[in-house]
Amino acid sequence: MTVFADYAPWYDLLYQDKDYAAETSFVEARLRDHGVSSGKLLDLGCGTGLHALAFARQGWNVAGIDLSHEMIASAKARAAQAGLSILFRQGDACETGPERDYDAVVSLFHVASYQTSRDALVAMFRTAHAALKPGGVFFFDYWYGGAVLAQGVETRVKVIEQKPLRLTRIAQPHHDEPNAAVTVNYTLFCEDTDRATIRRVDEAHHIRYWFPFEIDAALATSGFQPADHAAWLTQDAPNSKSWAAYSVARKAGKP
Ligand SMILES: C[S@@+](CC[C@H](N)C(=O)[O-])C[C@H]1O[C@@H](n2cnc3c(N)ncnc32)[C@H](O)[C@@H]1O
Repeated sequence: MTVFADYAPWYDLLYQDKDYAAETSFVEARLRDHGVSSGKLLDLGCGTGLHALAFARQGWNVAGIDLSHEMIASAKARAAQAGLSILFRQGDACETGPERDYDAVVSLFHVASYQTSRDALVAMFRTAHAALKPGGVFFFDYWYGGAVLAQGVETRVKVIEQKPLRLTRIAQPHHDEPNAAVTVNYTLFCEDTDRATIRRVDEAHHIRYWFPFEIDAALATSGFQPADHAAWLTQDAPNSKSWAAYSVARKAGKP
């Protein structure tokens, strides 16, 4: 089954508490630290477009790519409704497309960990490299291996009520430690309490956690200069308390 297909209509409800505007401001600040403060920005694995719209509202000229037709359809509808001109297309971030001359490429909320082999990670980094202009900056986050091993994985249940909808998500992880991989088996129960209907959706998400040295090797293979790594939404070194880490890498050359 395609990942983020049946899951897509429920995605925004599931992450309604995620502060996309604050995250976008944080990413913008890190891009600025690396000398990029405006221009063209490409969002790889843009999902339903919430970061992309936030960047566009800040004045960036934004495009987005996602593997899931359903997520892209949602992103397009959202941009049209907001009156924002953002070029969204369905596509694989692991295949270099026509995108060129970008000042910044971002890939947010663990897209790099959805690439479950080193070859796939390198392919995604090559796409980012090809899309950037010389001196352009690539910002992305990933599941940080040190935190996954220290904290371990466990079954989680999340319930969201937005009348008349009630969404219950059960996330059952299977940890394949020798391969630094986790399969998260999601079961969603989507209830309409007015109509007394219930629908079940099942999706397995395959995730690879990474260590900064692996990220560095893949970036070097893809032509990037060495990256900065930090714990998500901080400027501290990646650490076992923070599940996600991010990296900021630059394409060689002067803008
Ligand atoms: C957890 S979601 C994050 C979506 C969005 N960036 C956000 O912050 O809400 C991961 C997204 O990565 C996309 N994705 C995973 N692998 C991809 C690939 N190879 N090419 C394009 N999109 C990919 C999925 O379809 C999904 O929309």
